Amino acid sequence: MDSKLLNNIHKNKIFYRDGEFMTKPQAISVTKPVSEDLPKEKFDELEEFIDGMETTKGALIEILHKAQHIFGYLPRDVQLYVARKLGIPGAEVFGVVSFYSYFTTKPRGKYTISVCMGTACFVKGADKVTERFKEKLKIESNEITEDGQFTLRDVRCVGACGLAPVVMVNDKVFGRVKVEDVDDIISKYEKQEV
Ligand code: FES
Repeated sequence: MDSKLLNNIHKNKIFYRDGEFMTKPQAISVTKPVSEDLPKEKFDELEEFIDGMETTKGALIEILHKAQHIFGYLPRDVQLYVARKLGIPGAEVFGVVSFYSYFTTKPRGKYTISVCMGTACFVKGADKVTERFKEKLKIESNEITEDGQFTLRDVRCVGACGLAPVVMVNDKVFGRVKVEDVDDIISKYEKQEV
């Protein structure tokens, strides 16, 4: 490389990337995977949100919240997109997503039923409550019903131990839930009475 070229690179007059010289810094190309579930418009919305941020430094969790709000969940392609967009390793994004139980990598049903399996709830029979949900909905934990209405999850203490055993359906809390209450809770949501 001749000294003039080196000098210009040094002065930021010429940029070098991927084996090519260019006179302007180019935006990093960030591929947007497109499928029926992951349409380009949703990536555009996420991109607009990220580009509108004053700084993305330390904003990974906020961005993932937004991404989950837009897509409903965080599939691998969305996580990789965020990583590329922020110029950070995919492993960093995967690590954050798997650490926080709030984030989900699978699509969720319209209603997410979270049965608390923390100690206080467990000793008061949360395991039996969750078994009844499984039986009634014909799914296992972390699965979605065929009609896309319900997702069942086991969660850690939700901070309402005085009401144990606790079940949450989306943001609504049901306390002191008995096995006999399960059918009622499901049917309320099926009939959209809640
Ligand atoms: S253990 Fe269930 S709310 Fe705390």
